Amino acid sequence: MTAQLIDGNATAKAIRESIKQQVQARTDKGLRAPGLAVILVGSDPASEVYVAHKRKDCEQVGIISKAYDLAATTSQQQLLDLIDELNNDATVDGILVQLPLPAGLKADEILERIDPTKDVDGFHPFNLGRLAQRMPMLRPCTPAGIVDLLEGTGEDVRGKHAVIVGASNIVGRPMGLELLLKGCTVTTCHRFTKDLAYHVQQADIVVVAVGKPGIVKGEWIKPGATVIDVGINRQADGKLIGDVDFAAAAERAAFITPVPGGVGPMTRAKLLENTLFACETLHK
Ligand code: GUN
Repeated sequence: MTAQLIDGNATAKAIRESIKQQVQARTDKGLRAPGLAVILVGSDPASEVYVAHKRKDCEQVGIISKAYDLAATTSQQQLLDLIDELNNDATVDGILVQLPLPAGLKADEILERIDPTKDVDGFHPFNLGRLAQRMPMLRPCTPAGIVDLLEGTGEDVRGKHAVIVGASNIVGRPMGLELLLKGCTVTTCHRFTKDLAYHVQQADIVVVAVGKPGIVKGEWIKPGATVIDVGINRQADGKLIGDVDFAAAAERAAFITPVPGGVGPMTRAKLLENTLFACETLHK
């Protein structure tokens, strides 16, 4: 392997340490600790694991986590009522609704009901609009975490050609806005893209967020490129792998994220950072 590994675990740990100190500094001054409400509807096994991690992270840094575990039969109105209640709760700085929601619930309406100053996932149209207009407020966690990882490589991204594979609301679309803000030339590939290999071959930075192992082949990577793999796919043997053909890509890339231990921990760290930011800056 010639690529340098981008260590998301270490970067995320440093962020958590910093947040822990900032939370401690607040409480030392007699100010309240930040609060994050985490809502899980139903019992999707992957979501249960993610939510447990988020709650544990809060505890570790001194953020007060409020758990709402709701039955899969919860109605749209019940969920909207809970969001209204949390929007009006002055001890809650962030509201996170774990996705995907059970069939029948309309995620768009629920996410849009969250007070944009408490939208620590950064999914509300207000926050995406702010990012699009170069005035970010609460930034979606995964793309913001990836920007930190890119900065950590010490490479100047301005003027670089970034190719994003996947156009989801959670990662691909806001990733394009973040990289545009950093001065990259951005191409977004998606299910209708005609020649994915061609586009990836042009990339100085490749961000892959599709959820399909092997969708990006190692031989497509331009020598010296930076490869960011957002995919988390569980193989039959239980092992986690990304979307990029890692071994072959690592022979060509200058920098590459591993799965696990690359982007995943950064998403979690940025959620804590957003919650502290909401508390300190938006709800003071
Ligand atoms: N499901 C997968 N990723 C995410 C995320 O970043 N936030 C929420 N709320 N749900 C998710």
